[in-house]
Amino acid sequence: MTATNTEADHISMRSGYWLATIGTKNVIDGATPLVLDAIDAMDLNASGAFCFADLGCADGGSSMALVRKSIEAVRAGNKSRQFQVIYTDQPGNDYNALFAIIHGLEKGPEPTFLDAHEGVFVSACGSSFYRQLLPDNSLDLGFSSTAMHWLSAKPCDISGHVQAVGASGCELAAFQRQARSDWETLLHHRAKELKPGGRLVLVNFCRDQQGRYLGHTEGADMFDTFNAVWQAMLAAGQITEDEYQRMTLPQYYNDVAEFSVPLMDGSSPVYRAGLRLESITTKVVECPYKLDFRQHGDAARFAENYIPTLRSWTQSTFMGGLNPQRDAGERATLIDRYYAAYAQRVLEEPEQHGMDYVHAYMVIRKE
Ligand SMILES: C[S@@+](CC[C@H](N)C(=O)[O-])C[C@H]1O[C@@H](n2cnc3c(N)ncnc32)[C@H](O)[C@@H]1O
Repeated sequence: MTATNTEADHISMRSGYWLATIGTKNVIDGATPLVLDAIDAMDLNASGAFCFADLGCADGGSSMALVRKSIEAVRAGNKSRQFQVIYTDQPGNDYNALFAIIHGLEKGPEPTFLDAHEGVFVSACGSSFYRQLLPDNSLDLGFSSTAMHWLSAKPCDISGHVQAVGASGCELAAFQRQARSDWETLLHHRAKELKPGGRLVLVNFCRDQQGRYLGHTEGADMFDTFNAVWQAMLAAGQITEDEYQRMTLPQYYNDVAEFSVPLMDGSSPVYRAGLRLESITTKVVECPYKLDFRQHGDAARFAENYIPTLRSWTQSTFMGGLNPQRDAGERATLIDRYYAAYAQRVLEEPEQHGMDYVHAYMVIRKE
């Protein structure tokens, strides 16, 4: 078990994010009723602006409709209430892309809410959600989707796999410890930020009751495929054993019990800080590229559309795993070869591939 830290620059999304990952917008659209119900349950006549934060927002494209509907829901309860949107992500996020989309300078999935509503104030916070991001008692609604599976650090490399779903023994235990501590830290900060009566709606990747997780619902397991492609490049002498070991993604998928414990155990600091779990459910949202393929049947088109979505969230970790002594051009070539080899597997057996999303949908209230 090699102990290494993998920090934020290895887990940043590539720009052009929302276009490459249209499925996450489908997930957010599916979670929108939970957000609107949460807003409905609040006292909208409280003084001051309604403060909404999107935690792990990437370029803001996939949550554009959610923010617009949230503004409309607040205004339905109080038509003059000012609305503050705070987009948060890691320091290295592409905030230029975010503001270009929010200001309608770059194409997003729909027109910006800024043109449709007065009294809406947008700002960004480039700090990790493992820190306190906002002043005490200032947040009405914190939303996050498909972001909190990224750990604050990689506790170790995983022998013979790239993700904690393929870990066992002390390596799995190290990931579980890291995930438990990160989840509690993250919730504790949110407990401080939330106003009493405020809500969190968190839509996080999970392992569901049937053992399903991202890319592991039917057909080939996506993480086994990521791993197998690196193993093939190792066997062909294209990467070294050390490089292969460093390909571990700093992620963990909690199950429902792991998510719930700090919110239900009266002795946990999170519970004592006032956070209560109102609801938690899990849902599978099918891979849009897989569904398209079932309509058009063109394997090349499927691979061409599908691989960029895999690449958008794995490339920075994998690039970070390659020996920095290699020059940048050589590393870029290896990375291109890697995704080309993955694409080849999709071409050979297209019906085996797809990245269905498996999420836990949580509503959390601050007493
Ligand atoms: C898969 S994207 C999801 C983006 C968007 N929420 C969506 O659903 O389309 C994950 C985002 O989480 C961000 N992220 C990862 N770790 C984070 C951290 N510690 N703090 C804040 N954001 C983080 C990444 O930078 C990335 O923008």
